[in-house]
Amino acid sequence: PHITFVEPSGNQVPLDVPEGWSLMQAATANGVDGMLGECGGSCACATCHCYVDDRLMALLPPAQDNELAMLDNVAAERRPNSRLACQIKAGAALDGGTVTLPECQE
Ligand code: FES
Repeated sequence: PHITFVEPSGNQVPLDVPEGWSLMQAATANGVDGMLGECGGSCACATCHCYVDDRLMALLPPAQDNELAMLDNVAAERRPNSRLACQIKAGAALDGGTVTLPECQE
């Protein structure tokens, strides 16, 4: 799916994310600013924090307990649309979504 990442500077990075990749993998593989993913995607670091748009909010399955627990540890402001990008798997339904990266990850 086609996903747009918005870096902390406001710069928009459109990416075609392979099916099954996490949004964290796609962003780090493409050097998107504002994404860290220090734990490699095992939901243990909270440095892949992102804000998802309304479309993704409606489409994504709710965060599981481990994601919710890690969201307590994000460095930037936690918002209702805060998610961990390593827990979001790219699928066709997410096409056209936008993910905004916070000002800081640690
Ligand atoms: Fe560590 Fe997502 S990459 S929690």
